[in-house]
Amino acid sequence: MNLPTIATPRLVLRAIAMSDAQAIAALGGRDFEIARWLTGCSWPYIDGEAEAFLQTVVDADPLRTEAAFAVTLDGVFIGTVAIEAPGEIAEQAECPSLGYWLGRPFHGFGYATEAARAALVWGFENHACPAIVARAFEDNCRSRAVLRKLGFKPVGKTIRFAKALDRKVDNIIVRLNRADFEDRRAAA
Ligand SMILES: CC(C)(COP(=O)(O)OP(=O)(O)OC[C@H]1O[C@@H](n2cnc3c(N)ncnc32)[C@H](O)[C@@H]1OP(=O)(O)O)[C@@H](O)C(=O)NCCC(=O)NCCS
Repeated sequence: MNLPTIATPRLVLRAIAMSDAQAIAALGGRDFEIARWLTGCSWPYIDGEAEAFLQTVVDADPLRTEAAFAVTLDGVFIGTVAIEAPGEIAEQAECPSLGYWLGRPFHGFGYATEAARAALVWGFENHACPAIVARAFEDNCRSRAVLRKLGFKPVGKTIRFAKALDRKVDNIIVRLNRADFEDRRAAA
């Protein structure tokens, strides 16, 4: 299946592409203030890491691997939002999971919440799941604020090794039930 292009009030989400590699490295992998919050990023950035990630998702089945969207603003790549197939968060193995990051110049405008909301609509429409889950470092206040605004509720904790920090980090696991998401959409 191909990912659709999704317009939100201010953004356009489209399928991520190999041609996004340079922007992913520049805005994400090479910026410690981004890489430090993402469990799997190397630090310092290793050349080719963006391409290696893209090879796992571009042309793969988004329902079995990851529905990875490029988040764009006026046609410019500003970050990513993804719905990963069930199983990525073992503690909630029946549920797909949400992940995202934006380049630093684009923080603080509500873009992550807007992009994530659109990705959640796609996720609930395309996965027959009771809920979508997410995981964040316990001290990631900005991401936790995004998740809270979207209606996610804490359901557990886990400890993960963060490559860029080279240490284990306490994480929270949060969950958004389908019915709660639909109620919020209807009320909005
Ligand atoms: C997390 C991230 C995507 C948020 O992007 P964003 O577009 O700035 O997010 P939004 O503007 O939609 O929402 C951010 C919220 O955090 C709040 N916030 C910002 N700094 C905060 C802080 N230090 N403490 C608490 N809340 C904070 C904002 O006030 C806002 O909430 P509000 O709308 O209720 O005021 C972005 O900071 C990022 O890419 N971080 C690095 C990667 C990352 O953490 N990814 C998520 C991994 S789980």
